[in-house]
Parts: sequence; structure tokens; C-alpha cells
Amino acid sequence: MDAVSIIRAKRDGGELSDEQIDWVVDAFTRGIVADEQMSALAMAILLRGMNRREIARWTAAMIGSGSRMNFTDLPRPTVDKHSTGGVGDKITLPLAPLVAACGAAVPQLSGRGLGHTGGTLDKLESIPGWQADITVPRMREILADPEIGAVICAAGADLAPADKRLYALRDVTGTVESIPLIASSIMSKKIAEGTAALVLDVKVGTGAFLKTLDEARELAAVMVELGRDAGVKTVALLTAMDTPLGRTAGNALEVAESVEVLAGGGPADVVELTLALAREMVAQAGLHVDPAEVLADGRAMDHWRTMIQAQGGDPDAPLPTARHTETVRAESAGVLTRLDAMGVGLAAWRLGAGRARQGEQVQAGAGVEMHAKPGDSVVIGQPLFTLHTDTPDAFAGALDALDGAVGIELTPESKPGELVLGRI
Ligand code: URA
Repeated sequence: MDAVSIIRAKRDGGELSDEQIDWVVDAFTRGIVADEQMSALAMAILLRGMNRREIARWTAAMIGSGSRMNFTDLPRPTVDKHSTGGVGDKITLPLAPLVAACGAAVPQLSGRGLGHTGGTLDKLESIPGWQADITVPRMREILADPEIGAVICAAGADLAPADKRLYALRDVTGTVESIPLIASSIMSKKIAEGTAALVLDVKVGTGAFLKTLDEARELAAVMVELGRDAGVKTVALLTAMDTPLGRTAGNALEVAESVEVLAGGGPADVVELTLALAREMVAQAGLHVDPAEVLADGRAMDHWRTMIQAQGGDPDAPLPTARHTETVRAESAGVLTRLDAMGVGLAAWRLGAGRARQGEQVQAGAGVEMHAKPGDSVVIGQPLFTLHTDTPDAFAGALDALDGAVGIELTPESKPGELVLGRI
């Protein structure tokens, strides 16, 4: 078999056989298929698509490129959540300890951000002392501990290594936005991670990889089928990502907002989505507990503190702040009708909250604070954003990204839409 004939077959709209898929994923993992060949194949898949059989086989081949974890011997049911990526999406931070406090074990293998969407590990690394890399035996100890029960850590090098290499290529070759490639990338990692149940948060809107509800529904359906076929109880919520979640986009800024939620406050949309996902996770785990009660009585906050401490972090240490800030003010009065997630995500990224290349350092304190959200009334001169950065040269690029990101109308015709758009 050879890579060129497989690329040609997909380029010309053909179906790849099981043998072709197994061969090309394995040969890519072993360095026999070159990066440029795999990039060409990814582009052919993006343009031509894959049927369900091809997607299932591709996912199995990616899982088979590494080892699988197994948590079936834990005393508590395992359940995890995965978001397809959004702006201000800090939900994992309050959600994992909340669901652990409800009685489940939450093995969250997370990633670092690339591009305009932030990464959970980058956010948590802004907490002094916190470590993303822990051993599998330590992960098991934390998950079994009823006082902790949640771990958010980096995936080891041996978990779906084909996806790690392929995702890095897709990110720089314009081949992220493909339903077969996103579904197989996410589900190979989640199935290899060994969780018994999974709740997917499939984002749709300007700040998401997929912009229309139909595409998001198709992605969710493919992922749910892959999960169920692999014996993982899987459901998906479709959620809006036209506007950032909460009032912050950035690393330490989002940690602070998550702690507010755990303390019983925080922005209404973050609380709503955290509880909606927690209810699904608790139900998938077969538990009969109301997450709203567990959040309100402080048990979720207790688990946050032990979870952070278990990975070397100090939950009481002050969070880092950026050295420079700049305020952006409203130029007209009315009701805020639009706050574009992509514009805010790009601004936070340019301020230093994200990275342009793998391995770059992110700034813990950088990001965007939003002082008004859609539906809020604003007056001329009122602060709309505070921009935070250690590198003041970055303000110009951030302002550029925010140009046109805000809509203010005197007599708005519509109200902000629903956050949860569907369930599969
Ligand atoms: N997140 C992933 O892990 N993979 C994708 O392809 C997209 C989002």
C-alpha cells in the first residue's frame, strides 16, 4: 500500500477501505507517511467527507495508535465531558469538581489552547504551583479518593498519538473544520481515556469550529454513535457559541470567574451551562443527586480546593494579573445586541492569552473582561471591555479584533437566544 494512491482515492471522491485506513494511520504514527502526505489526505477528507464506516474505522485506528486506559476497577462511576471548543469556555473548571462532589469520578484529559479557543490546562496553570502532568497511578488515586474524585490533566504521550500529530498538522493546514476529522479526533481520545460515560458539549456559532446548527447536529450525531458503538454511554448538548461564555476570556481571568461560580455567584450563562452539563453527567453516571444543591451548599467548592491541591496548586494564592490594562468604551447608547465570540477570542489571543505556535508560553494574566453582554443597556462612554496584557504592543491588534465585534441598537428587534439549542 502507498500513501499517494490513498490520497488520490479520497481526492477523487472514493471510499477508503478498512485496510487503507488502518495502514495510513499506522504508517503516519510510525513516521513512514510524511506530514505533507497526511496534510494532503486531511484536506481531501475535509473536501470529500467520509461515510460512517470510514469514520468509525479511522477512529479505531487512532485509538489503536496508542494504549487505552481502564478505570473499571474504581469504586465510583466514571463520567467525563468534552467541549468542541469555544471562547470563554471555562465550564470544565467548575463542572469537574461539582460532578465529583455528586459522587462520580471525573477523569478529564484536557488540552492546551491553540488559536482563538482557550485551553483548560493553560487556565489552570495560572494557579501558582498547579501541575498538568501527573502519572496514571496518581490519577487513579485521586479519582478513587471520595474527597477529591476529579482530575484535570494532560493526556500522556501514548494516548491516541496519531491524533496528537494529526491535530498539529490540521491546525496549520486549514483542515480543522471537518466533521469526520473533528469527530474522530475527539472520540479517539475520549474512548482511549477509558471513561464509562461521556457528555459532549457541541458548540455552534461564530466562535465555534462549526457555524451552523445543521453541521453541529451532524457532528454530535456522529460522535454519539462512535461513543455508543465503543460501549461509552454518550449524549451531546448543542450549545450556542455566538457570544463568549461568561464575562472573561483569558487564563487567570477565567479561573477567577470559575471560583465565583463555585462560591455561588458568577455569570448566569456559566452557571446555567455548568448545571445543564452536570445534570447530564450525573444521570449518565446513574447517580440521583441534584447538582444545583451540591453547588449551593459548598460541596463543589470543597472538591475544587482538594482537586487543585492534589495537583500541587494553592487554591488560596492570589492569581497573577497582567501588568497593563486598557479600557474600551461604548461609542453609542442603546442595547447591546451582539458580542462576537470570534472577535473576543482573537483579541484575548493577541493580548497573550493564547499561542500562535505549539510550545509557546501564554501569559497567565492576559485576556478580555467584558462589562456588558447581549441584552444589557449601555450608555455612551461606559466601559465595554478591559483588555489585560503584559505586552502593551498587543493592544493595537486586540482593538483591531474587537472592531465590529459589538452591536448596539436603540430599539432591538430580538432578545438574546437560548444557550442550550438541542440534545442528541
Ligand atoms: N478538539 C479536538 O480535540 N479535536 C478537534 O479536531 C477539534 C477540537
